[in-house]
Amino acid sequence: MTSFEQTALRLSNLRFAWPGAEPLIRVGLFELRAGERVFLAGPSGSGKSTLLGLLAGTLQPQQGEVLIAGQAVSRLSSRQRDQARADHIGVIFQQFNLLPFLSVLDNVTLACRFSKRRSARAASRDGDIESSARRLLGELGLPTETWARPASSLSVGQQQRVAAARALIGAPELILADEPTSALDVDARGDFLRLLLDECVAANTALLFVSHDRSLMDRFDRAVDLRALQNEIAA
Ligand SMILES: Nc1ncnc2c1ncn2[C@@H]1O[C@H](COP(=O)(O)OP(=O)(O)O)[C@@H](O)[C@H]1O
Ligand SMILES: [Mg+2]
Repeated sequence: MTSFEQTALRLSNLRFAWPGAEPLIRVGLFELRAGERVFLAGPSGSGKSTLLGLLAGTLQPQQGEVLIAGQAVSRLSSRQRDQARADHIGVIFQQFNLLPFLSVLDNVTLACRFSKRRSARAASRDGDIESSARRLLGELGLPTETWARPASSLSVGQQQRVAAARALIGAPELILADEPTSALDVDARGDFLRLLLDECVAANTALLFVSHDRSLMDRFDRAVDLRALQNEIAA
């Protein structure tokens, strides 16, 4: 087993059911080492997004423990949980969840406004938060002329890169990505994933990447099927 400090994510004996439904998530043990990049597969409706919600702290398990960067988020108050999430987790949603009227740059720097820790990490890396946002947007291939425009005016592929920059800024220990390539065409998927993986490597950020597009999975350190994880806990 990996040591405490080297673990970006550790969950144990996690159980979750939606109200009135059969248990959906029953995972014995699942870990991501620091900087590890893992592909999580599973058919539609198998509980992938629900699992990410449990990891991100937006859903609470009925049983079990979630450790993010060594901190047991499942035992925190809801306010502490929000802070832990802002400090240690970047999320890339399927529908991006950008603030449409805010500029591209403001969407990216906003991730630091809720976290002194990520602000400090961005500033120590690039001088200040805005410089960090500019560096990431540049490295992710977003044309400079788009940076001051409202996020809603960008193409789908461009918006996806803004969402990635927002998740990456301040080098959180863990990025959760929920089918981030599903709205992109096949060529754009490959490009986007390469850029995202390069940035995760550079920042030693662990990545849990959910997708049902198995053509992408060779690029990861490891691929896991949610159904296989579910078999590891006694009924
Ligand atoms: N907010 C919700 N309330 C009740 N049931 C839900 C909710 N969200 C998802 N579910 C149910 O949980 C199951 C798994 O959904 P989900 O986690 O979205 O799967 P996946 O992301 O693998 O497609 C589905 O049966 C779905 O209907
Ligand atoms: Mg889903």
